[in-house]
Amino acid sequence: MTACEYRPGLEGIPATQSSISYVDGHQGILEYRGIRIDELAQKSTFLETAYLLIWGGLPSKQELNDFQHEIRYHRRLKYRIRDMMKCFPESGHPMDALQSCAAALGLFYSKRALDDPTYIQDAVVRLLAKIPTMVAAFKLMRKGNDPVQPRDDLDYAANFLYMLNEREPDMLAARIFDICLTLHAEHTINASTFSAMVTASTLTDPYAVVASAVGTLAGPLHGGANEEVIAMLEEIGSVENVRPYVEDCVQRKARIMGFGHRVYKVKDPRAQILQGLAEQLFAKFGRDAYYDIALELEEVINEKLGHKGVYPNVDFYSGLVYRKLGIPTDLFTPIFAIARVAGWLAHWKEQIGENRIFRPTQIYQGPHEQPYIPVSERP
Ligand code: CMC
Repeated sequence: MTACEYRPGLEGIPATQSSISYVDGHQGILEYRGIRIDELAQKSTFLETAYLLIWGGLPSKQELNDFQHEIRYHRRLKYRIRDMMKCFPESGHPMDALQSCAAALGLFYSKRALDDPTYIQDAVVRLLAKIPTMVAAFKLMRKGNDPVQPRDDLDYAANFLYMLNEREPDMLAARIFDICLTLHAEHTINASTFSAMVTASTLTDPYAVVASAVGTLAGPLHGGANEEVIAMLEEIGSVENVRPYVEDCVQRKARIMGFGHRVYKVKDPRAQILQGLAEQLFAKFGRDAYYDIALELEEVINEKLGHKGVYPNVDFYSGLVYRKLGIPTDLFTPIFAIARVAGWLAHWKEQIGENRIFRPTQIYQGPHEQPYIPVSERP
């Protein structure tokens, strides 16, 4: 095997062969199992898309019914998980709470052979079913309130909004939220998926795989960017302040949150769809003042950084949608996780299907043959 050139961030280095999703970063195309994201956003649901990603094809009517039924049945949390959550500090970030809860699931469900299809099926169903309940429960429990039990008559997205906001969800809001989940479900070998794959390659259990991915998603250069976007819009404060803000960032070479992508060199197709969803919500529930700041920001960044291929990514408009749905800012990244668990599980299944442990190499740059100096002789 020939030595490869070192590429920081593994830019351009294939980490796997996959048939789950595809991105053309120059034409702004994203496909899940060969189907365009725009078509899935318009015609599919999150659970159907999750099935497609994980099992490799669209389900039959019966398969979809069974999958939805299984997920409804497993939405509840064990009281011990809820008791554990009661001990979490109310100031703790919900992503840390979610990571702990996802890992804790591994304590309750015995580890079985990874070539046992029922184990894979059970893990997929439990993780997809319980993660939204965990996110909604933490939101209420950190204020000292009891969590709201899931409702079997509501579908996936509507039930989550109901558990979160403790009221009957608006049907347009629920449909838009479901589309947001579809848009965030999968995105090739991003940092959290890579983390999931590395963890999966050790043949550990799927709850550890998802917990490691949640930890990776939390960072501000990845899923955490959607929260930072709202903080930035708040800081900018007005349309007039946009240009000086951008000029200052460009001059300091500071990162502008919600812009730029390793793969997309045009506007992310998901940002395009999310912007449309935000506008639908504004038409029904009133315009968000931050939207005008966001529009101006996109225009000025296009002018100043467009030549570097820096355009809005998925995190730029998602926060405006979630704000209009009444979701607190620190739940934006956990919501990303609710959706992305579908992609992580698809990659977990693909990885263990043809596994080789990840064990890259390094270019050592430190010294050799150094003497050991006893502590008493050190300065
Ligand atoms: N603001 C200002 N300049 C930027 C930005 C940005 N957000 N993103 C890239 N650039 C510039 C960068 O300074 C560099 O310029 P130069 O060539 O003059 O040094 C050029 O564009 C290429 O950037 P890079 O650092 O090589 O890009 P990368 O592929 O290593 O990083 C990124 C990708 C997403 C980490 C980066 O664009 C970034 O930090 N964006 C802000 C955080 C963000 O929105 N993250 C969400 C990513 S999408 C969803 C997800 O993964 O969760």
